[in-house]
Order: sequence, then structure tokens, then C-alpha cells
Amino acid sequence: MAEDIRKGLAGVIADETAISKVNPETNSLLYRGYPVQQLAATQPFEAVAHLLWHGELPDDAQLAELRTQERAHRALADEVKAVIDLLPLDAHPMDEVRTAVSAIGAKDLAGTGTTLDAGGSAEQNLERSLRLFAALPAIVAYGQRRRRGQEIVPPRDDLDYSANFLWMTFGEEPDEVVVDAFNRSMILYAEHSFNASTFTARVVTSTLSDLYSAVTAAIGALKGPLHGGANEAVMHIFDEIGSADRVVPWLDEALGAKRKIMGFGHRVYKSGDSRVPTMKGALDTLVEHYDRPEILDLYTMLESEFVGRKGIYPNLDYPSGPAYSLIGFDTLTFTPLFVAARVTGWTAHILEQAASNALIRPLSAYNGPDERHIEGYVPDDAEREAAERPEEAAG
Ligand code: COA
Repeated sequence: MAEDIRKGLAGVIADETAISKVNPETNSLLYRGYPVQQLAATQPFEAVAHLLWHGELPDDAQLAELRTQERAHRALADEVKAVIDLLPLDAHPMDEVRTAVSAIGAKDLAGTGTTLDAGGSAEQNLERSLRLFAALPAIVAYGQRRRRGQEIVPPRDDLDYSANFLWMTFGEEPDEVVVDAFNRSMILYAEHSFNASTFTARVVTSTLSDLYSAVTAAIGALKGPLHGGANEAVMHIFDEIGSADRVVPWLDEALGAKRKIMGFGHRVYKSGDSRVPTMKGALDTLVEHYDRPEILDLYTMLESEFVGRKGIYPNLDYPSGPAYSLIGFDTLTFTPLFVAARVTGWTAHILEQAASNALIRPLSAYNGPDERHIEGYVPDDAEREAAERPEEAAG
């Protein structure tokens, strides 16, 4: 392999961003300069969305305005519900969410004309960002209810984002402790610089495509178990292991079979994920609230065994998986929850990319067969001419 190839773009700085800073040396994550732990402890998710989009936390009037807008777009639109209802009940919820976002985009952009007009202005894209932010909880909540054979629960105007999300999912007014843990998870998942899905969104935006296409593509990238799908995969592992006393034999077998243990490891953090302590705190609260200490036993045992053997630390998906399970979300709903949170980061990056755009188009080192020719093929004049000007012929 030639020396300057960075497989997986590892270590490549692809652009500047003012949205977040991941610092593996100090194990810190800043959103617009604020440590994420401080935001999770003090802010509602709506305020963090505002921070990511606008660069500053909202004042009271701005937060009230954002909440009014969010409430106005909360209900699941009939036509989006109809599109979801067309999908098989055993479609993966990430496919459901991706399709729903695509449907919202097709409706919103109807009549915009040619692809040349697709990108939209910064103002339009902010509106679109808010619309998706507001619409996603109803999509995710309805998806889980549909799979359980339950009726849709309409939103409640007297509840803020996180409480309303839980209300629409479970049809019960959530306990304050649960709302707080859920709100923290949304904030921790909101943004993480040039991760795979965010970079995907930026690549799509760089072609001057529209925000909905960028978010749809990002959802596709997030679905993979090496990225967002890991929170779902963590719970499958917990279910497979069953209880703390089975961790050691399970791990022996899994590592013997060279399995990757989901919820551990990170491309950037190599000595621990800055978001884990806060999410672990939220998990502890939930374990106490629901009185389920056996989950924590398994959690602690797997962590200490795996870290002890491999020196690879848990990432955010490790505590968030069991936390979402305790709240009552089905395992398949976990990654869609990540979508609802990360849509804020994605759209902030889409706005940033659009404001200072350069088409993202890396090069590749060809390692296929040497040039060869179809037997008897005679090039025409135009081809012969192009072959004499190879740099122009390259696309
Ligand atoms: N379980 C077992 N081994 C792991 C591991 C895990 N979770 N994470 C990394 N490793 C091992 C790899 O097998 C590899 O070992 P090798 O050098 O003997 O081949 C080494 O550690 C380096 O891993 P690699 O996958 O090349 O590092 P990366 O920086 O590309 O990967 C992840 C980062 C996230 C893709 C990787 O840690 C992973 O797959 N984790 C599990 C999925 C997950 O939780 N994703 C959510 C991320 S927030």
C-alpha cells in the first residue's frame, strides 16, 4: 500500500469545525466550548440544539421561541404515518426512520424545481433542521408502538421535549428521574465532530444536495454496528450473557472466536470515552429507580473483565444501551433514539458545511488490473483525442 494512503481516513483532518472539539488527550468533549458534562447536568436538550445551531445557549426568550416552534412540528403528519404504515412490521426501525425522514423531505421540497435549487438558504436549512428535530420523536415513538400493536399517542403541549418524547412512546407521564436520565443521554449523543454519519452528512451537503438527503444518508451510516448500531448490539450482548456470573465463560468464548465486543473501543478516544461517566451516572440513577441491581452487576463485571484483558474502554453506547432498556425502550429502538439526538449535530454540520463549502472528493490509489482492451475494439476519433489529453478525461 502506498505510504500516503490513510485507510478509514484515520488521523486525517478533513476540515475545520466550530461545533465541537473532541480531545482524546484530556478526555474531553466540548460543544461550542462548553464541556458536555456541564451541559448534560444543567440544560434541557432543546437548549443544546440551539447551542449547536447558533453557537450560543439560548436566553429565556429564545428558548421559549424554540419550544413553541418545536411543539408546532411535533405531531406525526398523516402522510408520514401513512408511509411508515406501508413498511413491514419487522422492518428495522432505522430503515423506518430513514424512510420517514426521506418522506418529510420529499413533501417539504416538493415544487422546489431542479436539483440546482435543492440546497436551500441558511435560513431555510435552519427551519428544516428544527422541523426534523421536532418530528423525529413522534416517528421513533410511533415505530415502537406500532411494533407492539399499540395505538399512536399524540404529543402533549404541556411537556418539554424529553418528557413529551417518553409520553409519546409509553403513553404515561414519565417520572422526573427518568426524564432527567433520558435528557442527559440525548445531550451526550447530540454531537461528536467528524464521526462517520456526520461526515456522511457533510459529504452529501458538499455536493449542494439538500438537508433531508444529507440526514437520510447520515441515518444510513449511523445504522452500522461500528457506529450507532452499537447501542443496540450492546443489549444483544447483555441478553446473550444473561447474568454477571456468566461473563467470564462468555468472554472467553467471544474473544476466542475473535468477536468484537460492542460498546467498547473508539476511533478517537483510546483511554476512555469522555461521555461515559455522565451516562454511567444516569444509568446508576435508573438502576436505583427501577431497583434492578443485577443489570449493574453484569455491566461492571463485563467492563472490568474486558478492560482488564484488552485495555479497551467502554464508549457511550455501553451505558446507554442498558439505560434505554431500563426506561422501557425495545432494543431495536435504541439506534433511532441516537438519530433523534444526533440530528442536531448533523444539521449543525450541514449548516456549517454549506456556509463554507468545498466539494468533498478524495483521491484513491488504483490497485486493479493494468490497462487492457476489448479484443477487436477500434476507438473512434473522439476517444483517440481524449486519450491524448488524459488529465481532461479523468472524472
Ligand atoms: N472488541 C474487541 N476487540 C476490539 C474492540 C472491541 N470492541 N475494539 C477494538 N478492538 C481491537 C481490534 O480487534 C484491533 O485488534 P488487532 O489490532 O489485534 O486487530 C484493535 O483493537 C484496533 O481496533 P480497530 O477496530 O482497528 O480500531 P478502530 O479505531 O478502527 O476502531 C471501533 C474503533 C469503534 C470501530 C472499534 O473499537 C469497534 O469496532 N468497537 C465496537 C463497536 C462499537 O462499540 N462502536 C461504537 C463506537 S462509539
